[in-house]
Amino acid sequence: MPDAIEAGPVADFTPGVLAGVDRFAVGNSNGEMFAVARRCRHLMADLADGSIDDAGCLTCPWHGAKYDVETGKMVLGPQGVFAKIPGLGAAFKVLTSILPLGRRKVVARDGTYYLE
Ligand code: FES
Repeated sequence: MPDAIEAGPVADFTPGVLAGVDRFAVGNSNGEMFAVARRCRHLMADLADGSIDDAGCLTCPWHGAKYDVETGKMVLGPQGVFAKIPGLGAAFKVLTSILPLGRRKVVARDGTYYLE
């Protein structure tokens, strides 16, 4: 098992907060903490610079792809000009169903979150 990575104080991660920690985007999605690999499967944008939408999905800052943070799968393909490319969004959904974003468990100990 990899070593635990300190993510920060529990008090800092209120719902909707997202931060970059090591190779992970760590956030609070509607009260549930998550940690997913921070490079978008599309063009490698830093997902830690994205946002968490009302449904709790992680939204890529560059082209708006959305990820289910529990599964690491893309649930909405890249938007804007990329949304006009037939099959592109579907292809990324298939890709991430096979190769979802890596995930780490987030645990709280003594008022601090750690990625395990
Ligand atoms: S880099 Fe993330 S949607 Fe394009």
